[in-house]
Amino acid sequence: DRYDLLVVGSANADLVVEVERRPAAGETVLGSDLAVHPGGKGGNQAVAAARLGARTALLARVGDDAHGTLLRDAQRAAGVDTAGLLVGGAPTGVALITVDPSGDNSIVVSPGANARLTPEDVRAASGLLAAARVVSAQLEIPLDTVAEVVRALSQDTRFVLNPSPPAPLPAEVLAACDPLVVNEHEARVVLGDAAGETPEEWAHGLLALGPRSVVITLGAEGALTADGRADSCVRVPSPKVAAVDTTGAGDAFTAALGWRLGLGEELAAAAAYAVRVGAAAVTRRGAQSSYPTASELPPAPAEVPAP
Ligand code: RIB
Ligand code: NA
Repeated sequence: DRYDLLVVGSANADLVVEVERRPAAGETVLGSDLAVHPGGKGGNQAVAAARLGARTALLARVGDDAHGTLLRDAQRAAGVDTAGLLVGGAPTGVALITVDPSGDNSIVVSPGANARLTPEDVRAASGLLAAARVVSAQLEIPLDTVAEVVRALSQDTRFVLNPSPPAPLPAEVLAACDPLVVNEHEARVVLGDAAGETPEEWAHGLLALGPRSVVITLGAEGALTADGRADSCVRVPSPKVAAVDTTGAGDAFTAALGWRLGLGEELAAAAAYAVRVGAAAVTRRGAQSSYPTASELPPAPAEVPAP
């Protein structure tokens, strides 16, 4: 009995305030009442997948504090296996989030315990890793830890990486990605000066760095997939929805994508499912609190008839 998805990543308490606009340096603005939501890119992915029906586990680290308890409870309530949710070493990670009237967010993360998820923790969790069809990671935990995950993968385990927040990636990690999942900003950081201007250019540039496949998320425009084996780019449109809060939509997208790939779906088909999950997530507030069940997904956009 295998996990459909093992997420190795961060767990944060999201402290969210809605603002009319963000303060400039030296400025103070007043915002809404504070909302505290379970978040973190790893915790978000695990909850997103579990809510869709995936058998999911989380390898992460929280502090021995009230935020840590909140995050554990949220994972359990969603049905995530928390045997790999480690405790201690530093306070639970916190994300300070402002959301503006267009639903866009800016985030400052204090990693806390996430920074103490070590390569040793990964080695100690070899049983979890061996039991996973797909392993998904992000970069709110140390890059050394992600590199250890890559080394621990078995032949038949698929690896999905969202390099967020973006950082230059070692060749060993890039080569394992199937796919590497990035938004425009992350694509530009990973590519550096050679980025180019179109998503197709980014995809080709990223494939040249070694991942087996690439998925670029394009917000309301959906996503673009590029499979290194087929050398083809596919545009995947998103259903049109009214955005309330985009926080964590990318995490839901990546989790859904990884899950569907593990079920054997082709890359573009899995991305078409995942954009519906991401679209549903932007219509509600918060990250985990906004994630849909399978029956809550908007329909796929109607196909444009061939000319
Ligand atoms: O991707 C959204 C997440 O980023 C938030 O939940 C916050 O915790 C930060 O990690
Ligand atoms: Na949301």
